[in-house]
Amino acid sequence: MTQTSIIVTGGAGFIGANFVRQWIAHESATLINLDKLTYAGNPENLRPLKDSPAHVFAHGDIGNRELVRHLLERHGPRAIVHFAAESHVDRSVHGPTEFVQTNIVGTFALLEETRLWWEKHAPSKREEFRFVHVSTDEVFGSLGPNDPPFNESTPFAPNSPYAASKAAADHLVRAYHHTYGLPTLIVNCSNNYGPFQFPEKLIPLMILNAVDGKPLPVYGDGMYVRDWIHVEDHCEAIDAVLIGGKPGEVYNIGAENERPNLDVVHEILRHTGRDPSLIRYVPDRPGHDRRYAMNARKIREELGWKPRHGFERGLADTVTWYLQNQTWCQRVRSSAYRDYYERQYGARLRQQGGDAT
Ligand code: NAD
Ligand code: DAU
Repeated sequence: MTQTSIIVTGGAGFIGANFVRQWIAHESATLINLDKLTYAGNPENLRPLKDSPAHVFAHGDIGNRELVRHLLERHGPRAIVHFAAESHVDRSVHGPTEFVQTNIVGTFALLEETRLWWEKHAPSKREEFRFVHVSTDEVFGSLGPNDPPFNESTPFAPNSPYAASKAAADHLVRAYHHTYGLPTLIVNCSNNYGPFQFPEKLIPLMILNAVDGKPLPVYGDGMYVRDWIHVEDHCEAIDAVLIGGKPGEVYNIGAENERPNLDVVHEILRHTGRDPSLIRYVPDRPGHDRRYAMNARKIREELGWKPRHGFERGLADTVTWYLQNQTWCQRVRSSAYRDYYERQYGARLRQQGGDAT
């Protein structure tokens, strides 16, 4: 049993893979990566770690309690960083079942097995342990144009099945600290962008469509506002919480980069040298939250974290990454992705009198 190892869940997805790669670049302790490899989990995101003894990949579901128990007993981690989730709002609108199953029931299974294992240890070991739950700003609902950004005391008001399932998970994590004393910490972060993001989310979808000269489907009036943070800054914030965060606390993470979607799309057109005539206004996402913004003062002041990436440069670098990783892009746009794209955008784009492809 290596006392310094950590378990990461969902480490083959976008943020998880960035975290795993960053972690292994600067830590020598073993990292056990539990991932179910859903459509969003991609072993190629971890290709450079294929032969690294520091990375142990465990293919499985966080809801598989026997497997979680085995990993805890076998590796005796000093921490769990829990990324695994169904994460896409549009998919949660069409099929909420998986969201309830993984984000709520799966998080419960992980918490309960962790608690049973953790309770067997001596008080000093119990005190050192950390369970970091990775959550989202969407649990707080939607802001009006002049509302102050969300802080850690903003009441929950989730609006999509995705956001509601994440909010439920946050409540369970909180309760496990309050009731059992499990040293849990919660991070709520704003919209991430950067390398390895699956192209069903706004930024990679727009980059890849623009590069291919395809229509860019903008929901509603395009004036919905998101607060963008580079994924590496988010991963560094999680590191800071793991090292210095106080059990039982919540930390909001954001980089103060509020942008209307349309501005982001125009910026991508500029970087790819494409014409704004590619933009198509398509029927809106049901229940679409108008604005998110994060107040990250607490993590900045208490843990000394701050983001390193400015949005303009970070977005330009992200466009370059997608241009330089064409094989990755082609592979993730499999036939399953094309089916999803047709379901999500086919009728919407045709309604606008255009060609969906
Ligand atoms: P993602 O969809 O890219 O990756 C999710 C990963 O979890 C995939 O590798 C998938 O295979 C795995 N997974 C799904 N169900 C699983 C299960 N039952 N058991 C084990 N593994 C499973 O997601 P992401 O964008 O990297 O987000 C990671 C976490 O961060 C999520 O919890 C999400 O709610 C949160 N978050 C995301 C953002 C964002 O902008 N992407 C912002 C704030 C918070
Ligand atoms: O805020 C944090 C959340 O950000 C995370 O918790 C989620 O896991 C992550 O998916 C993301 O959710 P959003 O719904 O904000 O992200 P998405 O990329 O799907 O959409 C961003 C904005 O762009 C949103 O206002 C909807 C809009 N949009 C999105 C797509 C995919 C479009 O206008 N057209 C599109 O085709």
